[in-house]
Amino acid sequence: MNEKITIRPAVVADAKPIMTLVNELAVKQVMLPRSPASVIENIRDFVVAEIDGKFAGCGALAVTWTDIAEIRSLAVEPALQKHGIGKKIVDALVIDAHRLGIPRLFAFTYVQAFFEKMGFGTCAHDDLPHKVFNDCMHCPKFQACDEIAMERVLDPVASPTKLFGKPQRAIPMPTRKTVEAKSPG
Ligand SMILES: CC(C)(COP(=O)(O)OP(=O)(O)OC[C@H]1O[C@@H](n2cnc3c(N)ncnc32)[C@H](O)[C@@H]1OP(=O)(O)O)[C@@H](O)C(=O)NCCC(=O)NCCS
Repeated sequence: MNEKITIRPAVVADAKPIMTLVNELAVKQVMLPRSPASVIENIRDFVVAEIDGKFAGCGALAVTWTDIAEIRSLAVEPALQKHGIGKKIVDALVIDAHRLGIPRLFAFTYVQAFFEKMGFGTCAHDDLPHKVFNDCMHCPKFQACDEIAMERVLDPVASPTKLFGKPQRAIPMPTRKTVEAKSPG
C-alpha cells in the first residue's frame, strides 16, 4: 500500500465511523459490539487510523487497574486489512500505555496469531479478574467464552508477576470512621 497511514487520537466526530466498523465486524462474530454510549463516553481511549485522511481503523486502550490495561475494539476496515494498519494502531496504544505508566496489557481475541506478532502470549481468563468481574459477567457468552485471553508485559520490573487479584494492595481503601451513638437529651 503506497498511501500514507497516520494514527491520531480520536475525536467525537470519529464515534460514528468507529461504531459502524466495530458493529459491522461484531455482526460477523469476530469481535464484541460497542454501544454508542460506550464509544462516546470512552472516546479518549481511542486512536484512529487514517489513509490519506480517510478513516481506516481504530483501537482503544482501556485502563483497567493501576498495573494493567486492555486493548479493545481493535478493528481495520475489511478491504484494508493485512496492510500494516492493525500493527500501527497497536504500536500507538503501546506508546500510550508507556506514557500512562501501565506495565502490562491484555486482550480478549479470536485472532491469536495477530496478537502473537504484536508480542502477546496466551494466558488464563482467571489471570484477568478485573475483566471477568467488570465485563465478562454481563456478557451473554460468560459461561461459554470462546475468546482467547492474551497478555504482553511492557515493563517486567514494574510488573514482575501477576499482581491482579490483589487490587486492594495497589489502591488503599478509604477508612471508615465509627460514629458514636448520641445519648438522648
Ligand atoms: C485483527 C486486525 C485488527 C489486524 O489488522 P491488520 O491491519 O489486518 O493487521 P496488520 O496488517 O497490521 O498485520 C500485522 C501482522 O499480523 C499478521 N496478521 C494480521 N491478521 C492476521 C490474522 N487474522 N491471522 C494471522 N496473522 C495475521 C499480518 O500478516 C502481519 O504479519 P507480518 O508482520 O509478518 O507481515 C484486523 O484483521 C481486523 O480488524 N480484524 C477483525 C476484527 C478483529 O478481529 N479485531 C480484534 C479484536 S481483539
